[in-house]
Amino acid sequence: MQPIFHYKKSTLYAEDVNLNEIAHQFGTPTYIYSKTAILNNLQNFIDAFGKTRHRIFYAVKANSNIAILQLFAKKNIGFDIVSLGELERVIKAQGDPQKIVFSGVAKTALEISRAIDVNVGCFNVESVQELERIQEIASAKNKIAAIALRINPNIDAKTHPFIATGLSENKFGISPSHLLSLIENIKNMSHIQLIGIACHIGSQITELTPFLTAIDYILQVIKQLKTAGFPIQHINIGGGLGVCYQDEEPPTIQAYVAAILKKIENTSLEIIIEPGRSLLANAGILLTKIEYIKQNDYKYFAITDAGMNDLCRPALYNAWHNIIPVNKILSSQKTLYDIVGPVCESSDFLGKNRELTLVANDLLAILSVGAYGFCMSSNYNSRLRPAEIMIDHNTIHLIRERETIDSLIQFERLI
Ligand code: LLP
Repeated sequence: MQPIFHYKKSTLYAEDVNLNEIAHQFGTPTYIYSKTAILNNLQNFIDAFGKTRHRIFYAVKANSNIAILQLFAKKNIGFDIVSLGELERVIKAQGDPQKIVFSGVAKTALEISRAIDVNVGCFNVESVQELERIQEIASAKNKIAAIALRINPNIDAKTHPFIATGLSENKFGISPSHLLSLIENIKNMSHIQLIGIACHIGSQITELTPFLTAIDYILQVIKQLKTAGFPIQHINIGGGLGVCYQDEEPPTIQAYVAAILKKIENTSLEIIIEPGRSLLANAGILLTKIEYIKQNDYKYFAITDAGMNDLCRPALYNAWHNIIPVNKILSSQKTLYDIVGPVCESSDFLGKNRELTLVANDLLAILSVGAYGFCMSSNYNSRLRPAEIMIDHNTIHLIRERETIDSLIQFERLI
């Protein structure tokens, strides 16, 4: 099978669509997703679990476009959400609220109330105060809220510190030392039903060991809870499986799932996972035009019409994304470029020291941006956020229009 994003002669295609065509029709910068790639990734998870009792909750934060949520909803996949906005997006995309896990450290009363009204499947609770708040709201509505406790196991996920979440120094989860007293509280909570234990130690994890250590830890906790009279139905190990951006060698989806299943094979627990990046990252690219080629003293820059406001991962995490030309130029003369955007900051780069043959007005593709790309974009420098497109073989769906000047200032008022 040919790769999803591939060259035909010297032109880059997404599935069966020539990317010059997209730029011509929709302009740049534009995010482009492959429906086939997303569904292939999902199918890899489904096949790896086989007949084992499991549930997959897509982490909406990775890419929350409602057309993408709709793809997962149609496949009966659940959703991991962290805000009212994500909840309403899932409902709009016809996702089943019963198949929603509500995560996040700061759920407001409004968010909890709406989630209970629409019968979300489970709250992943991160503190005693949150638990008390859920009990109060559920009791006022005379409903039972199913919850899982998110544990902070103090495990190093060996990833970028900004996206590590399982260490004691991180704000996430409940410290194991508070767990037993919390459990005592739950005994007196009339409208809370404890059904699971959850844990999410970080993102872009490229080794199996941290996941397996976390599972061992949770299994211990579940044993203790059983002794304390709380039978637990499910174990939720969060998301976090890494992808290859440059030269990382993360476990395959198959190896990851197989290793998890081996850990729980002698239990009757249902396994829940919340993947985001591993479903979306490699299914999306950002198409951008080179506005100018510029030389400052010894340094060459390709200045693109996409910037850190459109894709902030390089600026925020020093993340590396492959950058390739849409139209290969046959020349042996390569130059070392920094690929930079239009924003007035030196942190506005998409890639540094890339050896390429480039000309102004040509197109570039920034790869592996399907996860945490558009959803982290902003209007900084009053820039209009990009259009988003989904390719399905040779069909082009516009799934988000490019913003307009009117939409940019629609909520502002002169005084
Ligand atoms: N579950 C929970 C509770 C999470 O906090 C996250 C991600 C996931 C699941 C999905 O994790 P994934 O499978 O995507 O690794 N903006 C960063 C990533 C932040 C991840 C936040 N939590 C980036 O661009 O690398």
